[in-house]
Amino acid sequence: MTLCLGIETSCDETAAAVVEGGATVRSDVVASQIDLHQRFGGVVPEIASRNHLMQILPVVDAALARASVCLSDIGAVAVTAGPGLQGALLVGVQVGKALCAAGGMPLVAVNHLEGHLWAQNLGAEHVAAPFIALIVSGGHTALYEVRGFREYRRLGATRDDAAGEAFDKVARLLGRPYPGGKEIEALARGGDPVAFRFPRALARVDDLDFSFSGLKTAVALEVQRRQPRGQELQDFCASFQEAVVDSLVSKLFAAARVSQTRSLVICGGVAANGRLRAAAAARARAEGCQLVVPAPAHCTDNGAMIAAAGHLAWKAGVISSMAVTADANWKLERIAS
Ligand code: KG4
Ligand code: ZN
Repeated sequence: MTLCLGIETSCDETAAAVVEGGATVRSDVVASQIDLHQRFGGVVPEIASRNHLMQILPVVDAALARASVCLSDIGAVAVTAGPGLQGALLVGVQVGKALCAAGGMPLVAVNHLEGHLWAQNLGAEHVAAPFIALIVSGGHTALYEVRGFREYRRLGATRDDAAGEAFDKVARLLGRPYPGGKEIEALARGGDPVAFRFPRALARVDDLDFSFSGLKTAVALEVQRRQPRGQELQDFCASFQEAVVDSLVSKLFAAARVSQTRSLVICGGVAANGRLRAAAAARARAEGCQLVVPAPAHCTDNGAMIAAAGHLAWKAGVISSMAVTADANWKLERIAS
């Protein structure tokens, strides 16, 4: 049986999905907690854990029902074991173990970033290894050279804030709700991306690290000075978004050049951003590179990506023991061979 149930509870989405053959999404259920966290301006770990507890079984049931399967049809259960919020992760891990104990199928502990990475297998088009991956989310911004499953070499990473964190912080400065990425993108749509000149850090092409804290400070100072409203606010958001997109795209293509790879993947929540997708696609066309960016719903946190990565581990015989537990700081490099 090639059906894998993927479970994801690392942050503020309770998600489960059934994926066939590591690529065909049979169901994909995401219960977002955003409404609960919004009035606090960010994710409150205790609220997240408690809510995962309430949502997880109905979400798993819904994933099985929408795929028209029952637990005995599932060949393996893949669950996010880190990185993320410890209490939130534990809910998914315990449920994964319980399902495997009840159903007798193997358990696969999946690294959340590895899930983002292999979300590329869920679309109509995917690139074969070796490829360069830009993982860009709320907690991470890093470039990896992927030579195969579990053959990951980090080429660069942010020295301070993640790109998604920068979107979230700037939205907060502007009095906009959490999560900020979608909000900023919507405001930026009618704005002029060159109206404000915000800094691009570490612009040297041989430096594959990122930095967004200087940009965030520049934005904060400008917000204080102008309190942008109306068209100016749209210009402001478009200019900020352009600065982030510029940094991400230029470092991705610099990494491609350094490692002489023409196959590229962008994944993680920020990869849902339309301007990033368009700018990277244009550059890929100009440079003759193949670029895959998962569908927006598979960029932000979901269970299907965990099933996709879990499927690869399962087929490679990498099964977790029932003693496995959540690891809030699980580094992707640590599972690299
Ligand atoms: O991957 P993800 O869902 O969760 C983490 O693993 O962190 O990423 C969430 C991050 C948030 O910071 C959110 O603001 C950002 O992704 N994000 C976006 C967009 N959609 C989500 N950033 C820019 N544009 C978007 N459309
Ligand atoms: Zn994520």
